[in-house]
Amino acid sequence: MTSSTALEDEIEQRTREIGRDIWNRLERRRPTVFESRWWLDHVLEWAMADQAVKVQMFRFVDALPMLRSSESVTQHLQEYFEDVRLKLPLAARLGLDIAEHDSLLGKALAFSARTNARKMAERFIAGSRVDEIFQAVTKLRKKGLAFTLDLLGEAVISEPEAEAYQRAYLDLITGLAPQVAKWPEHPVIDRDLRTWAPRCNVSLKLSALDSQFKPLDARGTSERVKARLRPILRAALEHDAHVHIDMEHYHYKNLTLRIFKEVLLEEEFQRMDHVGIVIQAYLRDSGEDLRSLRQWAEERGTPVWVRLVKGAYWDYETVAAQYRGWPTPVYLEKWQTDANFEQQTRYLFQNHEWLRPAIASHNLRSLAYAMAAADVEELPEEAWEIQMLYGMAEDQALLFAEEGQRVRVYTPFGEMLPGMAYLVRRLLENTSNDSFLRHAYDRDVKIDDLLRSPSPPRSTLP
Ligand code: FAD
Ligand code: 2OP
Repeated sequence: MTSSTALEDEIEQRTREIGRDIWNRLERRRPTVFESRWWLDHVLEWAMADQAVKVQMFRFVDALPMLRSSESVTQHLQEYFEDVRLKLPLAARLGLDIAEHDSLLGKALAFSARTNARKMAERFIAGSRVDEIFQAVTKLRKKGLAFTLDLLGEAVISEPEAEAYQRAYLDLITGLAPQVAKWPEHPVIDRDLRTWAPRCNVSLKLSALDSQFKPLDARGTSERVKARLRPILRAALEHDAHVHIDMEHYHYKNLTLRIFKEVLLEEEFQRMDHVGIVIQAYLRDSGEDLRSLRQWAEERGTPVWVRLVKGAYWDYETVAAQYRGWPTPVYLEKWQTDANFEQQTRYLFQNHEWLRPAIASHNLRSLAYAMAAADVEELPEEAWEIQMLYGMAEDQALLFAEEGQRVRVYTPFGEMLPGMAYLVRRLLENTSNDSFLRHAYDRDVKIDDLLRSPSPPRSTLP
C-alpha cells in the first residue's frame, strides 16, 4: 500500500509536471497570454500601480451606471480623482483639469469614461440580450467548453425585482434547454460519470429571490426563497437542466446551505442530482461545511455537485469583521486559502460518490494540483470538472479542455447596473497583489515559483 507521504510526493511531482507542461504550451501558443488579453487597458494599468487610484476608480465605476448625463459623469470624474490627480497620466490629468462639465471636452471625457467602463464590463459579462447570450454559449461550445449562465443581480430590494429574477431563470431554462438539446454530441462536455451532463446549466444567487433575505429571520426567509426556487428546480427537472446555487457573503452562508438542504430533501427533488452548491476555501469553516454536506448527501441518497472556489468577498469579509469587532471568518494569508483549497479538493475527490467536484479557479498551481490528484487517485475524468469565469484565463481553459477534461465557463449576462457588484469583484480580484493572474502577468516570473506548494513565506517561518 502507498503511504500517505509517498502519495503526497507523487501528487506534488505530477502537479509540477502538469503545471510546467500547460505553462510551456501557453507560452508557445500566445507569448503574452496573461498580458495582452487583460492588461492592455490603460485604465487597469494605472489602477494596479497605485492603491489610491484603484480605490477611486472602483468608486467611480460603481457610480457610473446611475449617472444619466455627460455633465454628471465629468463632475464625478473630477470629484473622485481630485485627490489622486497627480498620480494620473498627463493626458488624463489635463483632461480633468480643463474640462468644463457642459463643454465639448467635458462631453468627450464623459464619453471616453463610459466607453472604457463598457469595455471593461464586456471583458467579464457576455451581454444582455437573448441573442448575445445564445451567441456566447454557442461560441464556447464550438471551442469545446461547457457553460453555466448567471443572470447578474443579487441582494434585491423589492419583490417585483425578485419575481423578475425568478421569471428570467424560468424563461432561460425553458427557452435555452430545447435549443442546446439540438447541438451535436460532444464526447467530453456531454459525458458524465453515470450518464450525461445537462447542456443547459444555470447559476443563481438566493439573495436575488427574496427582497427580505435575512439570516435573523431564517425560517421566514427559507420559506419564501424555497417558494421561488421550487418552480426553477421543477423547470430544470423537466428540461434536463442543472441548477447551481452560488455562495455569497459569509453572513448568508448558513442560511444558503440550510435552504439548499431543506428544498432538496423534499420528495419531488430528492432524486435530483443535477444540482449543486458552492463552498469557499477562504473560510475557516469550509472543511466542516463539506463534511456536513457529505453526510447530508448520503442520508438523502442522491449526490450533489460542489463547486469549490476560494471566495470572491475577501475584502468585504475582512473589513466587515474588523468594523464589527468580530473574528474574521476568512484566512488572512493567501497561502492558507490556497493550501485549504488543495486539501478540500482532495476531500471532494475522495468523496466524489456523494459530492461531485467542480474545481473552480484560474490559478495554474491549484488546477494542476487538482489534475495531479485526480490522476494519482485514479478518479475518472468524467467524475469531476474544472470551472472558470468568463473572460478570465481562457487560453488555460482551452488547454485543460484539450487534455480531455470537462471545463465549464461561468458566463454572466445582464445589465450594467445590477452587474456592477460582480464587475467590481472581478476588478478587485484581478488587481489584487495576491492574485495569481497578476503574478503570472509579470514578465520576470519563474514558473517554478508559480507552481510552489502553498506554505508560509520564508520570513514568517521560525
Ligand atoms: P487566486 O489568485 O489563486 O486566488 C485569489 C483568491 O484568494 C481571492 O479571490 C481570495 O479568495 C483569496 N485571497 C486573496 N487574498 C487573500 C489573503 N490575503 N488571505 C487569504 N485569502 C486570500 N466566489 C464566491 O464567493 N462565490 C461563488 O459562487 C463563486 N463562483 C465562482 C464560479 C466560478 C466558475 C469561478 C471560477 C469562480 C467563482 N467564484 C466564486 C470566485 C472565486 O471565489 C475567486 O474569487 C476567483 O476564482 C479567484 O480565485 P483564483 O483561484 O482564480 O485565483
Ligand atoms: C461572483 O458573483 C462568481 O459568484 C461569483 O462574484
